[in-house]
Amino acid sequence: MYLPKRRSWELPDSALTPEGHYLQRREFLRTLGLGLAATALLPASLRGASSGFPGSLNPSFKLDGVKLTPLESVTGYNNFYEWGLSKDAPSKLANQGWKTEPWTIEIGGLCEKPAKFEVNDLIKALGGIEQRNYRHRCVEAWSMVVPWDGFPLAKLIALAQPKAEAKFIQFTSFFDPKICEAQRSKNYPWPYTEGLTIAEATNELAFLATGIYGKPLRNQNGAPIRLVAPWKYGFKGAKSLAKIDFVAAQPKTLWNEMAPDEYGFYANVNPEVDHPRWSQANERIIGGGFFAGKKPTLKFNGYEKEVGSLYAGLDLRKNF
Ligand code: MTE
Repeated sequence: MYLPKRRSWELPDSALTPEGHYLQRREFLRTLGLGLAATALLPASLRGASSGFPGSLNPSFKLDGVKLTPLESVTGYNNFYEWGLSKDAPSKLANQGWKTEPWTIEIGGLCEKPAKFEVNDLIKALGGIEQRNYRHRCVEAWSMVVPWDGFPLAKLIALAQPKAEAKFIQFTSFFDPKICEAQRSKNYPWPYTEGLTIAEATNELAFLATGIYGKPLRNQNGAPIRLVAPWKYGFKGAKSLAKIDFVAAQPKTLWNEMAPDEYGFYANVNPEVDHPRWSQANERIIGGGFFAGKKPTLKFNGYEKEVGSLYAGLDLRKNF
């Protein structure tokens, strides 16, 4: 993400080469050939966020004829400002002692069943995970196609039972300035926050991802749980969620608070509405040697059939 004026915290997006993989404990266990049965023997503290793996591909979200972005690009070219501003920083810095399991997520606000869950228990309570291939389009005009694992957000909403007054959901990422140096600075209004209307959040596409390519999420991708709303710019997909709150009024969101003229609340992918400083008509395809060509951007990122009706009568230029 770029900010309107060059400020002290804004660094150049200098290093674009995908980085190698960082084996985390959970993948390390798999590398050793310890399957689910074997990990079940381990004490809870040593078990990975492996609940539900492997899930199976939901045939409605196969994306026929589309090439998936290679794993090394999905996990090596990231935006996760808590762990640095260059694309290769999160894969390094988010893996230097930051523990994302076990992990507690709190569901609260205007709902009948507020609760705290360890993420593995939440996955179990919701009946496991599925795989979906989604287009992923960043507001910076690059794109990927990512095979996510996780569960529909609507399932969690059904569990929480929002009250009638709840009209929006606020998503709040982790806040741990002891381990995350960037969060000690006041340059950004940490923690990272995002939001959806309840109608958006209950759309079949809204997804809480817990994995990529059939394995638990790596820290740089928002382990152990992050939002994915594929018809919106990627910044809506708050990573490493600590809280999900049902609220009555449109919640504040980090990028909207930082630069309201550039990052709207809706943030629907729209080639007809340019970013004030660059065109949104086309996108750079990330993959292989990082830059795998260019293609025209699709309205709602190609998901108009699924989500277009949510915005009937709304001026998408004003409500960008
Ligand atoms: N969530 C948090 N907490 N912090 C961030 O900096 N960046 C957002 C989003 N979620 C971000 C975040 C942006 S701008 C994008 S494009 C996507 O994460 C990138 O997700 P990816 O790195 O898995 O591709």
